[in-house]
Amino acid sequence: MKFDTPAGTNPIDRLRVVGQPHDRIDGRFKTTGTAPYAYEHHEAVANPAYGYVVGAGIAKGRIASIDLSVARRAPGVLRIVTAENAGRLGKGTWNIAKLLAGPEVDHYHQAVALVVAETFEQARAAASLVAIRYETAAGSFDLAASRHSATKPESGNPDADVGNFDAAFDAASVKLDETYTTPDQSHAMIEPHASMAVWDDDRVTVWTSNQMVNWGVGELAKSLNMPAEKVHLISPFIGGGFGGKLFVRADAVLAAIGARQTGRVVKVALQRPLVANNTTHRPATMQRIRIGASRDGRITAIGHETWSGNLPEGKPENAADQTRLLYAGDHRLIRTRLATLDLPEGNAMRAPGEAPGLMALEIAMDEMAERLGIDPVEFRILNDTQVDPENPERRFSQRQLVECLRQGAERFGWSARSPAPGARRDGRWMVGIGMSVGFRDAPTMTSGAIVRLDRDGVVTVETDMTDIGTGSYTIIAQTAAEMMGLPLSRVAVNLGDSSFPAAAGSGGQWGAASSTAGVYAACAKLRDEVARKLGFNSDEAEFLDGYVVAGNRRVPLADAARDGEVGVEDKIEFGDLSKRFQQSTFAGHFVEVGVDMATAEVRVRRMLAVCAAGRILNPKTARSQVIGAMTMGVGGALMEELAVDKRHGFFVNHDLAGYEVPVHADIPHQEVIFLDEMDPTTSPMKAKGVGELGLCGVGAAIANAIHNATGVRLRTYPMTLDKLL
Ligand code: MOS
Repeated sequence: MKFDTPAGTNPIDRLRVVGQPHDRIDGRFKTTGTAPYAYEHHEAVANPAYGYVVGAGIAKGRIASIDLSVARRAPGVLRIVTAENAGRLGKGTWNIAKLLAGPEVDHYHQAVALVVAETFEQARAAASLVAIRYETAAGSFDLAASRHSATKPESGNPDADVGNFDAAFDAASVKLDETYTTPDQSHAMIEPHASMAVWDDDRVTVWTSNQMVNWGVGELAKSLNMPAEKVHLISPFIGGGFGGKLFVRADAVLAAIGARQTGRVVKVALQRPLVANNTTHRPATMQRIRIGASRDGRITAIGHETWSGNLPEGKPENAADQTRLLYAGDHRLIRTRLATLDLPEGNAMRAPGEAPGLMALEIAMDEMAERLGIDPVEFRILNDTQVDPENPERRFSQRQLVECLRQGAERFGWSARSPAPGARRDGRWMVGIGMSVGFRDAPTMTSGAIVRLDRDGVVTVETDMTDIGTGSYTIIAQTAAEMMGLPLSRVAVNLGDSSFPAAAGSGGQWGAASSTAGVYAACAKLRDEVARKLGFNSDEAEFLDGYVVAGNRRVPLADAARDGEVGVEDKIEFGDLSKRFQQSTFAGHFVEVGVDMATAEVRVRRMLAVCAAGRILNPKTARSQVIGAMTMGVGGALMEELAVDKRHGFFVNHDLAGYEVPVHADIPHQEVIFLDEMDPTTSPMKAKGVGELGLCGVGAAIANAIHNATGVRLRTYPMTLDKLL
């Protein structure tokens, strides 16, 4: 099904199942420990062998020699995979460096060997006996020091110039010119990258923990130098990803090579201490923001320059991109610059670009409001735009940001805020409130599905879409149930298998809207097929309560499958509506913090997000997404930082003891409100996505609340108490 004109009324609009706050249909499996994760497909394998990854002990240089002789003789060892014996390997498109190093080493903890043994403990013990001599080369590890050598990236959209920024900024009555920094961050998901591989002749099956099954097949095929048709990837449950599992990593590639060499099933769970340096992270940024405004608060000039670093051939963190679209202003400047750093691979982490970008921009907006003597909410409303400021012909398909802010201010009790910092006390706590804007695009991707109706009237959906803990299973079941006129209990959903039709996968907050639209397309085809079989005119047939109905004829849906299952496949393909309209999601974030007067400890006391994100397919799972993202925002504001060892070039705090994320006790009262919205330009579902929106801006709202509480303006994340004292 091609989607190229705004959606009209369709069966989804009945909202009997879609739009309802159903519990997750996979919830029971997860909470009872019966959902198989990548390392746990015991049903599929007997007698597995275990792999243990050896990570490079240097950041840059080469392996002078590897001596495997002692390790090979250790108890239980079956094989030791290195670049020397792994055969000819390729490199995937999405990974920057090779997933098995040798002889060159590109970053610290890049895999250099996989020890495969009968037990995990034997593999681990033998790994410590692998003797590697390195020749170390000098590398660059310090973004601030490398900033002057940063260059304009060759691809992407790094610069924008509208009007005459310099002149307008010079002439502005009120201005701001400040620099903000965000640190390197780790995805810190609970389930580490893990895979299990087995070969059958020249075909490989890999159970892995991966957000993008279809990408993963291609990447694995490239890495292993084999045809994609011979790679079978299975990823039905994922214990968190946050972008770290958009790409196949060393666990998958090495498990496959280890399995080929041993003829066994090989399981590899990347050891927790390797995750931060071996896999990807969100790169640190330095961001210079300049805003000029007239005395009445209208932005005349807005400039956002951002610097980040990455390995050669890596991409920048696009932290200035949202500033192209968020606020009005005739004179604009965007610069994205990239330095070469020899730290581990920088890549996507939840809301890549916007998350760190808004952490900076939304503090700057608070500072500007203060300089102008205008309320921060009103300042943003004053500078709202309904068109793309770089291309005013192009409108937002929907932009209810002002409504998000007004409702949020009302519900949060914003009017009680004292504009003067340090005015409120509660015992030993200085109390302040702050707000920010959340903004994130709503991309869509081609998505396919198979739907089958059996003689019991059960509909089964199969698509390679994944569920990273977000609720994909449930909203897909809801979509099929609505389309086929069935209760949720009559729909089964199978996900995350590359033998199913390719779908969007979980990333970029495109998953929910795209994958359900693919299921919609397949169900529309199934309805036609059912109607034909039962002798209905497809345009007149209604699918309700397990029956197909038209006029006074009413036939059980299951009758269509009397002579055998009815199955169809289709996909949704998106035309140019996403180019003609700017499709985005919006939020107003409101936060109250307390800051301890003696220790400067910051506690978040309450949070509210008001979101406008198209039709909300399931208010319960969507709320959970936003609450999870707000929690992540607390981590980003107050705790998360990969500490860079600038001499040796690695992240020092590379486990969950040293890399701090919020725990339940850190999380206060959280409330989420969704505006009633549907966007007919996005898909027949009229939905967008919320998975990343909930994080965007949260850090700045906390920073602004800290300022309101204390009068201290912090521009460096994370805002740990040492910076406040
Ligand atoms: Mo997201 S960073 O595209 O998983």
